[in-house]
Amino acid sequence: MTGDVVNPEGRKIPRHIAIILDGNGRWAARHGLPRAMGHKKGCETLEQIVADAARLGVEYLTVYGFSTENWKRSQEEVGALMNLFRFYMVKLIKVANEHNVRARMIGERSRFAKDIQDGIDRLERETAANTGMTFVFAVNYGSRDEIVRAVRKYTLEALKEGKTVEEIEALTEQEFAGYLDTAGMPDPDLVIRTSGELRLSNYLLWQCAYAEYYITPVLWPDFNKDELLKAIDNYNSRERRFGGRLKTTDNYDRSGKSGT
Ligand code: FPP
Repeated sequence: MTGDVVNPEGRKIPRHIAIILDGNGRWAARHGLPRAMGHKKGCETLEQIVADAARLGVEYLTVYGFSTENWKRSQEEVGALMNLFRFYMVKLIKVANEHNVRARMIGERSRFAKDIQDGIDRLERETAANTGMTFVFAVNYGSRDEIVRAVRKYTLEALKEGKTVEEIEALTEQEFAGYLDTAGMPDPDLVIRTSGELRLSNYLLWQCAYAEYYITPVLWPDFNKDELLKAIDNYNSRERRFGGRLKTTDNYDRSGKSGT
């Protein structure tokens, strides 16, 4: 079952879109600019896409802003990204409030400088009353790190509460998901990756088990509403099976084989 909403133009709008933004560096190189300028343009694109997705009726938009692996980049690039993060978090409060968007961060935030952590708290606090789209910003996020943190949290809780072996063995997928950073959110329906790479890059590995994937060669700074609509239209052409059978084969496929 999907929670897709059909908008006035007859498009099924995925309830949850997750984006892997990529190509800022290549965009800068193509324009003869320093990498930091590609990231700056990428932040402007992000602002615009948050507004566009909210207007289209997307319920959750999760964007991969900074991965646990991105710290390996040069000190100069990480420094430039942190400064952009400081600046755009404040700008995002305005954009989010203009579009009734609630912002939420996922990832491990204690590695950020104190003023950035305060900025994250402020962005979440000052948009918490909004009732429209939830914009989820994945920063210092890595899916394996998230899963390990969830296991630690569950185990420590189990020890503290004196859970029995039987109780631990009864843990369900649904309960476990409640320990992930994305607790309470529906799984992504559509994952968009820009700049043509065919990788998931440690992004929402648990949550994207049944997501549809859309890869575009467009570099993130050039991504816009038309590109977002192309991705949604492509999603509209898919038949989602969630491990069941393809409906269009029902008339002739009597093998009983399950789908993937
Ligand atoms: C992808 O392009 C960019 C990133 C992984 C980090 C930059 C993210 C943003 C500008 C969004 C806002 C987030 C923050 C934290 C300011 P790339 O540099 O990997 O591009 P390339 O593959 O072409 O080099």
